[in-house]
Amino acid sequence: MTDTALVDAQQAAAATWWRQAAVYQIYPRSFADADGDGLGDLPGIRSRVDYLAELGIDAIWLSPFYPSALADGGYDVADYRDVDPRLGTLADFDELIAALHERGIRVIVDIVPNHTSDRHAWFQEALAAGRGSAARARYLFREGTGESGEEPPTDWESVFGGSSWERVADGQWYFHHFATEQPDLDWDHPEVREDFLKTLRFWSDRGVDGFRIDVAHMLTKDFSEPLPSRAELELIPQDGAHPLLDRDDVHEVYAEWRRVFDEYDPPRTAVAEAWVSTPERRAKYASAAGLGQAFNFDLLEADFDATEFRTVIADNLAQAQASGSSTTWVLSNHDVTRHATRYGLPPLAGRPVKQGTEWVAAGGPPDGVDLDQGARRARAATLLILGLPGSTYLYQGEELGLHEVAEITDGERQDPAFFRGGAYDGLGRDGCRVPLPWTADGASFGFGDAVAHLPQPRWFAQHAVEVEAQDPTSTLSLYREALRLRRLLQTGEQLDWIETGREDVLRFTRPNGWQVVANFGTEPYPLGAPSDAVVLGALLDDAVPGESTVWIAPAQLLG
Ligand code: NOJ
Repeated sequence: MTDTALVDAQQAAAATWWRQAAVYQIYPRSFADADGDGLGDLPGIRSRVDYLAELGIDAIWLSPFYPSALADGGYDVADYRDVDPRLGTLADFDELIAALHERGIRVIVDIVPNHTSDRHAWFQEALAAGRGSAARARYLFREGTGESGEEPPTDWESVFGGSSWERVADGQWYFHHFATEQPDLDWDHPEVREDFLKTLRFWSDRGVDGFRIDVAHMLTKDFSEPLPSRAELELIPQDGAHPLLDRDDVHEVYAEWRRVFDEYDPPRTAVAEAWVSTPERRAKYASAAGLGQAFNFDLLEADFDATEFRTVIADNLAQAQASGSSTTWVLSNHDVTRHATRYGLPPLAGRPVKQGTEWVAAGGPPDGVDLDQGARRARAATLLILGLPGSTYLYQGEELGLHEVAEITDGERQDPAFFRGGAYDGLGRDGCRVPLPWTADGASFGFGDAVAHLPQPRWFAQHAVEVEAQDPTSTLSLYREALRLRRLLQTGEQLDWIETGREDVLRFTRPNGWQVVANFGTEPYPLGAPSDAVVLGALLDDAVPGESTVWIAPAQLLG
């Protein structure tokens, strides 16, 4: 290869790193606490960079670490261009990113553009400035209904439950999709648009490699009068002209963002969190002229079922190919029940929910959940998605096989969704946000010197990093080995299905001969005589045991 060809190839690789990356999501307040205040922080993450490197991931995604009143775990941002003083400083951020880059780990940060915190300077200004002011025009203020405006403008419900309108002292109401402390911005306002371009440049200039865009499908709205009622709203198709969701005009925003991303070398990447009605609508967010990639949440909504998985995989690969993007695979994140627990629940139709109070047993493991079955299935599902083309998003703690924590009392809970009783029914999302166990003892299992901000159950000890790192059969050892092998085996973005004659077994091969066999059933699947060796997972009497996945690969790929 000539020098120029080599440089070209390196540049191309740098620009497309995200297409098949393993990205590890860090929820900063619950990862590692360096200053002993019970809250995780950036120096805490910095102190665990070796752990991240050893895990073998390509990038981290940092959930919000910005100044916040924590009304929604940091997704209520008071200042988009600073670090929460409880989590560190901008200098700590710079140090962290340098340490990660030195180990070859890229960094994605979370951008929350739909709403600010009610502590944001703009919202404080809007409150002080009064009705009709320029400051209120950055948000969605409206007059109420009823004789003296004492009723909200509409009967719409917020995602977290309760009205999506809140009244301020002078009688006007403002719109919030989520908690009352998260007023929605008006994306028709040029200053709002300008300010986010500034934020994207601010973090890009500091070296971040990409952005995760919070509720990317919600930004633009049509609030022209008369506003529809909730019942009317529900009948409006989400096909690009819905007043609140997934509007076509939101892509004008992302086209502008793309121009900013492309000012950098390599171009900054982005992934949309977009809960939309069809794969075709999702593809718009993933387009190269827009954000470039969009989360595929289909597996969060699928049971542990081979047919469902195959349909999701086939649909998403086809859709990614059509959009020119690559797909993403997600089994857990900070918003859903951990998949080790989910797969121990009886099969659920649709979005997995915690079963109300049914599986909550105070002080003990959740009733009604088969934890061992969940753990087996979680490992099998993870090995399956790590073998797929596209990028995989892993959520902190899943590499330890952590279950959802049920033993949090109502008084200890923090999630506004729990208190407002809206989406994420039942217990809310605190159970997957409990600080990680690093050691088997200590005030907070090595998370820090103080008791952690959410209570850690006693059974966390057996999942501690120091315990699992010593055990070759632990989930941590499995993730490390899988991620190491994945780097060697990862190849072109296609797969070919191999028919197994079994409804509960999926088998496919990648262009280089790497094969993945996932047995969703309980009956062993006899493998016959594969020409290549099983490199990950184990056979029992030449068969893939129930609820497990194996990888088979030609020896030469392993170097
Ligand atoms: C999606 C985030 O993932 C979730 O944690 C948050 O509560 C909402 N967006 C509102 O920002």
